[in-house]
Amino acid sequence: MTPFKDFYQYAESTRVIAGRDLLGSAGFEFQKEGARRVFVVTDEVIRGTGLVERVEAGVTDGGLEVAGVFDGVPQDSSTEVVERCAAAAKEAGADSFLAVGGGSVMDTAKVADAVFTHGGGAAEQEGFFLMPREDDGMGRPLDIAPLACIPTTAGTGSEVSMAAVIKDPERKVKLEIADFPLFPRLAILDPESTRTLPASVAAATGMDAMTHAIEGYVSTEWSPHQDARSLQALRMIRDNLERAVQRGEEDEEARGNMLIAANLAITLALGSVHAMSHPAGAQFSVPHGVANAIHLPHVIRFNARGGDTIAERYRDIGELFALETGGAPTDAADALAGYITALVDRLGLPTRLSQAGVPESGIAALVEGAMGDGTTLLNPREASEEDYAELYRSAL
Ligand SMILES: [Fe+2]
Repeated sequence: MTPFKDFYQYAESTRVIAGRDLLGSAGFEFQKEGARRVFVVTDEVIRGTGLVERVEAGVTDGGLEVAGVFDGVPQDSSTEVVERCAAAAKEAGADSFLAVGGGSVMDTAKVADAVFTHGGGAAEQEGFFLMPREDDGMGRPLDIAPLACIPTTAGTGSEVSMAAVIKDPERKVKLEIADFPLFPRLAILDPESTRTLPASVAAATGMDAMTHAIEGYVSTEWSPHQDARSLQALRMIRDNLERAVQRGEEDEEARGNMLIAANLAITLALGSVHAMSHPAGAQFSVPHGVANAIHLPHVIRFNARGGDTIAERYRDIGELFALETGGAPTDAADALAGYITALVDRLGLPTRLSQAGVPESGIAALVEGAMGDGTTLLNPREASEEDYAELYRSAL
């Protein structure tokens, strides 16, 4: 039985277009969102595939101009990259941003757009619902320049989210920024944009999407709106993730469905898996999806022991995967955790932190990072320092 919550908020303002052969329509569609002189944000790998050229051709076909291209986004972007990107867009006389890439590229474009529009440094954008508003901060949030996203991985869901995560190299933390203006105005989901995605990246980013769907479904900030999205995302991940990883280039349908699944799965309501993975990324450069894939089963087992209400939510998910879900609620959650570990292994990803370059001596600093991460507050079971230390040790 779904209880009626005392309060929740749900918003989604990105126009999504999904289907085949959409890259050539990028300009036609983005013009409807107010773009004229488009600044393209991407990385060198994506640019090397020829995808950016095709998107640029789509922009000019629609009668818009490409003001410039910034291809300097690294795998794990930072405040310094964001500031360089914003400055380059100003210099180019751009009036809008088009991100072509994965989570790091899209999050860079989002925060660069905020810096471009409102000024200040990248780190000053940190926080939830702190962007400038009318009426001395009490009114409607001020728009930023139009932003469109073409995701080239199926995982982060950043193309329809109002959040961005950027590394602050000085403080060695990941800054989390979220507010309504960061919703991109347009997301274009075309399986052509993930055609050359390496299997290992498809696997890791797909596990990020799966983690969003599962954490969103059990988070204290769950909502019936998000439940509908999470469960449909999980059905699509169940049916398409392994196909997309194994068959890659040949399987346009699986790749297209994974783009949509990632899009449905994204939510701000995450939990301890993300709380543990953010410091693993900031301190040991463990790729985000890999870290989530490693932490997820451990957090499921831990959370399920926080009460039957939580464990029953995992049972719902286990049913979707046709797992043995009879018996005690914790047994059903354990079955789900076991299923995920086996899946991660089949996908060819590491299942232990030590395989991803994390030493035991790093645990104390990781625990500190997890305790200080915003998503820890949304986990359904409160996790203490000792709990996080135990979770990291069990994942090592
Ligand atoms: Fe994530």
